[in-house]
Amino acid sequence: MDRTVEPELMEGEDQVISYAKADFSEGENNLINQINYYLVKNNIDLNKQELIVDLGCGPGNISEKLSIKWPNARVVGIDGSKEMIRKAESKKNKSTNRNRFKNLRYICADIKKIEASEFFPGKNISLLVSNSLIHHITYLDDFFNCIKRLSTSQTINFHKDLKRPDNEQIALELKQKCADKYDDILTDDYYASLKASYTSKELRNFIFEKKIFSLEVFEEGDQYLVIYGKV
Ligand SMILES: C[S@@+](CC[C@H](N)C(=O)[O-])C[C@H]1O[C@@H](n2cnc3c(N)ncnc32)[C@H](O)[C@@H]1O
Repeated sequence: MDRTVEPELMEGEDQVISYAKADFSEGENNLINQINYYLVKNNIDLNKQELIVDLGCGPGNISEKLSIKWPNARVVGIDGSKEMIRKAESKKNKSTNRNRFKNLRYICADIKKIEASEFFPGKNISLLVSNSLIHHITYLDDFFNCIKRLSTSQTINFHKDLKRPDNEQIALELKQKCADKYDDILTDDYYASLKASYTSKELRNFIFEKKIFSLEVFEEGDQYLVIYGKV
């Protein structure tokens, strides 16, 4: 199935409400566990005021989980949609635990334009994460240029996304499964996202062409892929 590009930013109010009320916690917890496993295996400790950045943070689901998992690190969620950042801030402010999310802040910015020196002066990013972002980015170059600009040789990158289904029939089956759980707006967005996603082969070829040999791509089950390593 060929890729069909979708708009980068999720700016519609209905779209944001629908996304923010859905429960994706199972997949999100898996991602946090995968990152933790990778860090532990590589003897990397993120408990000393390290900087963690979550690109395309949306309503902050992953940023919040990163902030809870590594309470001594500073976590920054970045999204280009004002509406998403508004939702993320409002969720953060609703926390009844005053200490929770003290280490978390949000920035509204397009990932294509962010520069480490402007956004994080004097501080290197230890962990650069994204979830369900890559398929929104029209050109892969823009995503990889961003993570290269923000990373040092020590930055751990961990990016999870949907994998494009092999054919329309599989995409329609997945859309139906989504419709069984979620509302129409989210289902339509999910279907558009499936069609906009990349395949692991496309990502591997891109990484190979750009000679970023320390990044690995693997498929997680039949719906997701993960890119991890250093750039
Ligand atoms: C599907 S949502 C994922 C949100 C969040 N990462 C999560 O896992 O719940 C993708 C998010 O990426 C944001 N996004 C897409 N393109 C972007 C860009 N160029 N710069 C910043 N944010 C972007 C969208 O606005 C949207 O909030």
